[in-house]
Amino acid sequence: MKENGLKLLVAGGAGFIGSSFIRHVLGAHGDWRVVNIDKLTYAGNLANLAGLQGDERYGFFRADICDAVRMDEIVAAEKPDAIVNFAAETHVDRSISDPSLFLRTNVLGTQVLLEAARKGGIARYVQISTDEVYGSLGPQGKFTEESPLRPNSPYAASKTSADLLVRAWCKTYGLSAIVTRCSNNYGPFQFPEKLIPFFITLLRENKPVPVYGDGMNVRDWIHADDHSRAIEAVLLRGRPGEIYNIGGGNERTNIEITKLLLSALGKPDSQMKFVPDRPGHDRRYAIDDTKVRKELGVIPLVPFEEGLRDTVRWYLENEPWWRGVQSGEYLKFYDQWYSQQGRT
Ligand code: NAD
Ligand code: DAU
Repeated sequence: MKENGLKLLVAGGAGFIGSSFIRHVLGAHGDWRVVNIDKLTYAGNLANLAGLQGDERYGFFRADICDAVRMDEIVAAEKPDAIVNFAAETHVDRSISDPSLFLRTNVLGTQVLLEAARKGGIARYVQISTDEVYGSLGPQGKFTEESPLRPNSPYAASKTSADLLVRAWCKTYGLSAIVTRCSNNYGPFQFPEKLIPFFITLLRENKPVPVYGDGMNVRDWIHADDHSRAIEAVLLRGRPGEIYNIGGGNERTNIEITKLLLSALGKPDSQMKFVPDRPGHDRRYAIDDTKVRKELGVIPLVPFEEGLRDTVRWYLENEPWWRGVQSGEYLKFYDQWYSQQGRT
């Protein structure tokens, strides 16, 4: 893929990782442009990209990736070189209580974007997927790109289905598409429903933190900025039709994470409360990222303890951001603003 003067269409760029990716690529490449398409669900927040206001290289459309007419129009008008799809419903617990939206956005929305890419003759499509498609590991071993697909939650099943659609669009239509599968991300701007920001914000209010089951489930943590750098490498140098695992190499039990957060916020261990387990709770994720390291030279740069310390500090220093997203005030503001513009 050419590197000079690239124009990207990023779907879901107002969320946690999509906004990290946009900030990264526009920071690293002075001649790149980004068109961000985001529905602005509860998880999408343009404040995550406030630093780009007035930057002529950045544009935004509030749009739903399931809206085929709109996607085709935007692709035809903007003529991007590549599409990177972050847009998704992403929280496992929400997928357990209401799966339908996950199937709509994550499966149908991906199909709509793939079609828009195909019809628009887009040179590269990157689907941001997850290690959850592989299911759960025992105490040993790691997920490779060849591991069987065994999703256990409605969220994971919807992401797996999307990955299979990408494969079909490659094989059948010759679309130049690539899938990335990353482990658990952490960092600034993550919606405070996910483990790390949820617990930081609860502890900030001196509330107990709910650890599911026995707390011995293991996740492999990576800073969102390392994930963004890896996606950039895949976009530019990845091989069409391939899958690339991305991981942080930082396996921690949930109890370990909780104790690190309790200590960082100066709280006693007694604030950790064990609660009933998440149904279908995957026991362990661990990523073998040999392929992306060897083929594309991707290595995570942020040491976990340092990244976690900085993340805690960010949440403490940005209380208005997380209080705003908890109350949904930022969405009311955008709804009002858009209706004044005569847009939906
Ligand atoms: P997020 O929930 O923070 O953001 C999702 C974004 O998608 C939001 O801005 C939301 O408004 C937008 N969106 C949702 N439905 C949409 C629709 N129908 N049309 C347009 N936009 C829509 O999610 P995230 O944590 O940043 O995850 C981004 C991607 O990375 C997802 O595809 C997710 O599956 C994947 N991923 C996440 C992690 C993680 O740990 N968070 C790890 C691996 C992969
Ligand atoms: O592995 C990648 C995935 O990581 C992404 O695809 C998902 O979009 C992202 O949400 C994340 O999924 P998890 O389910 O692993 O993340 P979550 O932050 O919800 O939970 C992390 C672990 O912490 C998990 O074992 C469940 C546990 N947990 C979570 C919450 C919110 C608790 O024990 N208590 C909680 O309150």
